[in-house]
Amino acid sequence: MDIAEVLKLADELLFTHTGEHLDHLQETILKGTLQGQKYAKIASENNLSEGHVRDTASELWQALSHVLGEDVNKLNARNILEKIIISNSGSIGDFVSGNKVSICSTQKRSPKSSPLSKPTENNTYLDIDTAPEITGFYGRTDELNTLKTWLVQDCPRIITLVGIIGVGKTTLAIKLIEQIQTQFEYIVYRSLRYCPTIDDFLTDLLQSFISPIIPGTLDRKVNVLLKFLRKHRCLIIIDDLQMLFQQGQFAGQYQAEFEEYYLLFKQIAELPHASSLLLITNEQLEDAIVTRHKFIYSLKLVGLGESAKQILRDKELSDEQMWDTLIEKYQSHPLWLEMTATMIQELFAGKVTEFLAYPSLILSNAITSQLSRLWIRLSESEKQVMNYLAKQEDAVTLSQILQEISHPPTELLKAIQSLKRRCLLEDTSNFVAANHRENHQSALLKINPIFKYYLSSLPLLPT
Ligand SMILES: Nc1ncnc2c1ncn2[C@@H]1O[C@H](COP(=O)(O)OP(=O)(O)OP(=O)(O)O)[C@@H](O)[C@H]1O
Ligand SMILES: [Mg+2]
Repeated sequence: MDIAEVLKLADELLFTHTGEHLDHLQETILKGTLQGQKYAKIASENNLSEGHVRDTASELWQALSHVLGEDVNKLNARNILEKIIISNSGSIGDFVSGNKVSICSTQKRSPKSSPLSKPTENNTYLDIDTAPEITGFYGRTDELNTLKTWLVQDCPRIITLVGIIGVGKTTLAIKLIEQIQTQFEYIVYRSLRYCPTIDDFLTDLLQSFISPIIPGTLDRKVNVLLKFLRKHRCLIIIDDLQMLFQQGQFAGQYQAEFEEYYLLFKQIAELPHASSLLLITNEQLEDAIVTRHKFIYSLKLVGLGESAKQILRDKELSDEQMWDTLIEKYQSHPLWLEMTATMIQELFAGKVTEFLAYPSLILSNAITSQLSRLWIRLSESEKQVMNYLAKQEDAVTLSQILQEISHPPTELLKAIQSLKRRCLLEDTSNFVAANHRENHQSALLKINPIFKYYLSSLPLLPT
């Protein structure tokens, strides 16, 4: 047996999967093991404690087991590695980076020789098991094309996908995965729904597709991830980012215990690599990373437009001539339309005309409880602005808001900015600019009509 060849194989296997070479101690342990030495001897020859050698060895065997998809330990390491060399008589480099990786039977992974190499369709490592299944998908051609163009041509390091609750952000991202996967070596989807600590989040991410050896400290974990993002073209989709943000404060501000996520995203935005992070959120990030870096893109998602008709068709509603009106009232928001269509089915036997005969909008309980969840996240000054706007017939100017609400102007301006980041305000300033050139600078603001209805239909405006 050529010990150097075995060491080289182990090193390349580890490096390809973890971005980390065998360190000196790991190499010493592996060498000693191949020569039949006991841990005690390896320890004494290297002035180390036997416990330390044992722990390091155990991590090494775990890593090799993970990479090879079979149990590797002190007793069988030599046999297993030798067998691989014999059965893959080509060069070790070919084995590690090429097609013969199928030996890693339990791991659906496919290391590439070059970080920017374009994998074939079957060759992408997908970890999207926790993503919700899409049952129907309509429209969104422009949005998909935009995202694909960005990801393929511009390689942004971070994309934020922002939109009001239920507008179809997750659905769009999942559809995107179907259409973009040949461009990436690794695609991973994670939701932050249950607010994992950054440590748990990184541990899970590293274990999933990088390495079973999880470094002990946070910055080592971040380093391993960053190295991997540099070496391989990855798309990491992080959903429900708003769960990390503070409630009762302006939009997009991290809770103190989640500040490290901000640092991680900042590093990912600043370091050169060809991987992308897709951050999905109801609240645009407040921090500077959104505006400061040219490698950060943002897409704001609104309703489905004309394609929303397909949702009404699926729900077998009648009176098709009234569908445009229904869609407009609910802003072609897919979830609100689905919920409303269900109500029309249950109460009006699917007859849209009868439903629309009611003078005001009807919000199903499901929509109301969604809006209540949004409402409790607002800060006090945002609530004041929303309450004021809910009582206005038409869109109002910024200066009108500042004059008519008795609150410090700077606070009000921040509140308006924050409400826009939550997609709760519609800004019609372009319209004003085009039609009243003399009034070029007056931004006209309007509350989201469904939210307006929600607020004005409550007996007492909530605080
Ligand atoms: N393009 C689409 N075509 C058809 N239905 C859609 C589409 N997008 C969304 N929907 C419907 O709307 C529902 C809500 O979509 P989704 O969960 O993607 O919204 P979201 O913006 O991620 O919501 P949240 O903010 O709660 O995470 C989906 O379950 C689906 O039924
Ligand atoms: Mg979602």
